This record gives sequence, structure tokens and C-alpha cells, in this order.
Amino acid sequence: IMSMLPPMAGQPRYLGTAIQFNALLSNQTYVANLLGEFNAAAPGNQMKWVSLQPQRRKWFWDEADEFVRFCQRHGLRIKGHTLIWHDQMPPWVTESLSAEALRWEMLNHVRITVARYKGRIPAWDVVNEVIADKRGDASHHGDGKTYRNSLLMRKLGPDFIEAAFRAAHDADPSADLIYNDYNVIDGGDKADRMYEMVRGLLQKGVPIHVVGFQTHVKGPELEIDGDVAAWMSKAAANLRRFADLGLKITLSEIDMRISGWPASERRWRQRNAYRALLAMALVQPKMEGLTFWGFTDQHSWIHYEFGADEPLLLDEEYRLKPAYHGALRILGHL
Ligand code: G3I
Repeated sequence: IMSMLPPMAGQPRYLGTAIQFNALLSNQTYVANLLGEFNAAAPGNQMKWVSLQPQRRKWFWDEADEFVRFCQRHGLRIKGHTLIWHDQMPPWVTESLSAEALRWEMLNHVRITVARYKGRIPAWDVVNEVIADKRGDASHHGDGKTYRNSLLMRKLGPDFIEAAFRAAHDADPSADLIYNDYNVIDGGDKADRMYEMVRGLLQKGVPIHVVGFQTHVKGPELEIDGDVAAWMSKAAANLRRFADLGLKITLSEIDMRISGWPASERRWRQRNAYRALLAMALVQPKMEGLTFWGFTDQHSWIHYEFGADEPLLLDEEYRLKPAYHGALRILGHL
């Protein structure tokens, strides 16, 4: 019932979530809530390089195919996630591959994966998280930007970014291609460098259509002097400059950690912060849709990475949290 976003320029907008694959197959409550609330989905892990090609030339499609079938059966728009990422790479992709072999394998992975789902997956995260967190992170400075120090960057240099987009486009010319990163929604140095990179790619004619702002946020950090308004206006200004490049934009992996707030206030402050965030996002030009990184606190990467938290809209028993009601007012009633 949340997925009633007003259209953008006549086009329907999507409201999506990352999928916990095991729950998709075995948990009816999970599936009922998913289908009741969302009209789009991204696989949490099933389309990453290590999942699809755990051994060289040994492809494993079962789970990705099952995910795609599920989405088609239920009319969910699919976002392919994620073709090129420094994390969750297959163990056989190592320093000992020659640069030439590595480049071939990377492009082969992109081509084969995109081609397999041609016409069924309308948008792909092509390159994920190549901008370094801080300028001083001693990574690759090849073309004046500061990139994350990753295997692909060390061995291939920043040209692999462009090559991956071109290969994806060749494999499915009708798919929207996305650059996706985190800690970039509210502007700042990392966002500036992402902006320069994206603008450079566009100037070269690289097929890139959407920028994904992951939006894994920590609730208390949205509050500046006890209020979220200043953060929201920074984010709005930042999002707008990307839209002004002619690109579509999306919030692609939304969740909000709340353990930094006093226990008695967490859920209400989360509700208010989610409302402000979604209200800000929806009025931005070229905002094509929103994707949460899960919807029940039962299943979230946050627990593994940062310890117990309550980042999503439903609690671990699938009860509607204040955040859900706050989001619903914004998403369901505009
Ligand atoms: O399911 C097992 C559980 O049985 C076991 O007890 C536990 C112990 O560590 O691991 C669980 O598996 C975890 C899995 O998520 C569950 O979904 C893995 O350890 C964990 O590595 C894996 O993390 C995934 C993460 O990417 C990998 O870095 C998350 O699911 C996935 O949501 C997350 O998503 C990424 C996006 O792809 C890109 N942007 C950032 C985002 C968050 O890291």
C-alpha cells in the first residue's frame, strides 16, 4: 500500500526493496508484506559476481533465475544488483590474473549477465562504490579523481568503469545503467568527486542513465542542531545538481540506524527523520523511484556489520513501526 508514488513526467515511479532470498522461498509472512507494500525489487546478494560465477567459467544461475521468475510472476520491477563491485568478488579473481585476463573476465561477466536477462531487467547497477571514502585514502589518482584502492582499479586503472558501462549497454541497449555509491546523498567531498566522475563519463558519451544514492544513514547524523531540516536542504541541493546533468536519480538502498538515539525516543525520531527524508526525496526533479534495503528488522545487513539495530519500517515480528506510518503518509497519500 505504500507503492502509490505519484508519477514523474507521466511515468510511474517504483517503490522497491532489497530481497532476502531465503525468506522469499520459505516465509509466507515475508512474501505477503513484500507484495503488499512494494512494486519493485533488487536481489540482496544473488546477482553479485561471487554468486553468479563462484568458480571460473562455472556459472550458478539458479537463485538469480528464481528471483527473476518470482518478480515477473508478481509484477515487481527488477533492479539488477550489482555487476562490478570490489566486495563479494569471486575468489578466483586475484592479483595473479594478468591485467588482460582480468579485463576480459570482467567484461565477460557483465555481458553474459546482462544478456541473460535482456528485456526482463530494465535497470542495472553497473558499477558500485568506486569513489574512495576520503581523499587521503591512498587509492588511484589516475585521471585526477580519487578512487577506491581495489583490485580492478590497481590492475586496470579507472578506464574499467567506462568499459563496464559500454559492455552492459551493448548487451542490452534498452536497460537503464546506474552508477551507485554510499555516503554521497548530502553532498561533501566524496559527492563532489562522484559528480566530477559522472560528468566526465557523460562528456565522453558513456551510456550512464541513473545515479543511485544508497542512503544507508545513521539517524542521529541527520540532525544538525537537533533538527533534520539543514541536512535535508544539503541533500536536496546535491541531488539537484546530478539531475541537472540530465540524469535520473534514485535513493537506492535506504535504511536508517537508530541505536545512537536514547531508547525511549528512537522510534519516534526515526519516524520523523524518515518522513523528512522521503518528503525531500520525492519532490526532487528526476527522482525515478526509491528502494529500501529491506523492510523488516528481521533481515538487515546492519546487524552483521554494526550490531543490533532497527533500521527498517517493520519490526522483526513484521509489526508496523512508527517509521512505517510516517513513510506511508508521504509515500501513500501524495
Ligand atoms: O545468513 C548468514 C547467517 O546465517 C550467518 O549467521 C551470518 C554470520 O556472519 O552471515 C549471514 O550471511 C550474511 C548475509 O549478508 C545475509 O544476508 C553475510 O555474512 C554478509 O556478508 C552478507 O552481507 C551482504 C553484504 O552486502 C555484503 O557486503 C548483505 O546481505 C547485503 O545486503 C549487502 O548489501 C550491500 C550492497 O550489495 C551494496 N551496498 C552496500 C550494502 C550493504 O553492505
